[in-house]
Amino acid sequence: MNLLNLGGIMLLKTKKASQYEYEPNILVFCCNWCSYAGADLAGVSRFQYPPNIRIIRVMCSSRVEPTFVLRAFNNGIDGVLVIGCHMGDCHYIKGFKYTQNRMEHLKKLIKYIGIEEERFELYSISASEGKQFSELITDFTNKIIDLGELKIPKKSGIIELDYNIKKN
Ligand code: FES
Repeated sequence: MNLLNLGGIMLLKTKKASQYEYEPNILVFCCNWCSYAGADLAGVSRFQYPPNIRIIRVMCSSRVEPTFVLRAFNNGIDGVLVIGCHMGDCHYIKGFKYTQNRMEHLKKLIKYIGIEEERFELYSISASEGKQFSELITDFTNKIIDLGELKIPKKSGIIELDYNIKKN
């Protein structure tokens, strides 16, 4: 009886501890030609990385509009990664260059809104860099865990922005 009770208490404690463990939601945009293949290679090669990410495959990183990232934050995502090809390897020649320019501005906007700019990053991964992909995801996830859950400042205007996007 005591043993059973003890077992019950232990089970309850374990459950409570895991209840408060913070599991971040991370969104990753991967371009079709390099970084998605890198992610695929990481899986095939069985390189371990945290299961907190959801990948959206786009044809080129330049397909990722800044509003996609803002909407992700507005919908409870704690961190966003955009991963494209290495400079000069983009399938659409100048795609990654365009992405770099856009994302630099977006990073400034994110900071202006009041969101920690570390929650958003742009990286390059080639199709042969499965190991680097798993390391990148692990490092980014740990960084987001350190930052904690995203709290969007109320006066940021990001909510109105999302509303306007939906309306159009
Ligand atoms: S195809 Fe990979 S960044 Fe353009």
